[in-house]
Amino acid sequence: MPVDRLPVDLGGRSYDILVGAGALDRLGEELAPLWRGGPVFCIADERVWGLYGAAVQTALRPTGSCSGLTFRSGEPSKTWATAGRLLRDLAAEGMARDGLVLSLGGGVAGDLAGFVAASYARGVDFVQLPTTLLAQVDSSVGGKTGVNLPEGKNLVGAFHQPRLVVCDPLTLGSLPRREIRCGLAEALKHGFIADGMYLAQVQSLSEHALSADPAALGEIVAGSCRIKAAVVKADEREAGLRATLNFGHTIGHAIEKVGGYRRYRHGEAVAIGMVGAAMVGARMGVCDGSVVDHVRAAMGRVGLPTAAPGLDADELLQAISHDKKTERGRVRWVLPIDVGKVTVTPEVPQRTVVRVLRELVG
Ligand code: NAD
Ligand code: GLY
Repeated sequence: MPVDRLPVDLGGRSYDILVGAGALDRLGEELAPLWRGGPVFCIADERVWGLYGAAVQTALRPTGSCSGLTFRSGEPSKTWATAGRLLRDLAAEGMARDGLVLSLGGGVAGDLAGFVAASYARGVDFVQLPTTLLAQVDSSVGGKTGVNLPEGKNLVGAFHQPRLVVCDPLTLGSLPRREIRCGLAEALKHGFIADGMYLAQVQSLSEHALSADPAALGEIVAGSCRIKAAVVKADEREAGLRATLNFGHTIGHAIEKVGGYRRYRHGEAVAIGMVGAAMVGARMGVCDGSVVDHVRAAMGRVGLPTAAPGLDADELLQAISHDKKTERGRVRWVLPIDVGKVTVTPEVPQRTVVRVLRELVG
């Protein structure tokens, strides 16, 4: 399978996304023209460092080497405390302004390492080596970095674009099916917000993707990255269009928080959140009821949850009211109009939200 090179066009902050089986082997040659000569550190999820750390070291060998800094796998590590420890590790190990941070792992590694790279010495170069489907289709592209606070998800962070993103579907061969489903949730999201043809493509490839077929995964990654790169090009700092990428996130983030960041994976929470947003849209007359059925069926068909039985609707409502994406104090909802088209609005009556949450948890 050839390695595709997809550009993210952001003027002086432009970069390429490499997508294809074997792309990680090219890391050394791809980094050579970008590297400014300083120390190179790879911030990695412990599990992923064990799986692919040696491959990264080997790929770098022609031009240099890197030291690994690891953290315990999983969302509970995406904290201020872990970021602080990693920043101190970098300082102790002699990180410099001309150095480079590689992030190896899923969205947690990318968000955490990106935030560390954005903060150290007011910003050092950063490269994403995503190893979950969710990170390859979504989180590694676009420069959003950050950590969670007990008060809410991603409440601290920075926009810090990577210099390069390398998506190698061969690294997804070791990914549990549950994690592949989570990545499919974000890929389906891209279809629902922007492109019905891509949505159908993801659906037709999903069985192969769940069997970790690299060709199917590569096609899905390339399709999502194209959509996300176009959105980020048009609106890097989320002044408007980029907010559409948060479809499913208003309820999704609340579900993650109320579930203690352990009960539901991010992609699962977003899947339920997309169903909830569609239910809100249908109750408000923004979309037809058939859109709700379509969203629910698309999630259900790949084995994603479509409801959150047992969670407390009041706790979810409270978590939603702390959402950081507010406009004049009101939460900004992303609601589907039809397949491939969404709208962003703060005009959602609280009673509608309450009814939908009760239905989702009931
Ligand atoms: P994750 O990084 O925790 O990875 C999921 C699990 O898979 C972990 O246990 C990890 O150890 C394991 N893993 C990773 N790669 C593996 C591999 N190749 N083989 C076997 N196991 C592997 O979670 P995630 O779902 O990748 O990312 C979720 C995070 O991404 C959330 O914090 C979310 O907020 C964030 N996110 C950020 C953006 C953004 O634009 N920055 C977008 C979407 C999501
Ligand atoms: N995942 C939302 C964004 O990148 O804007």
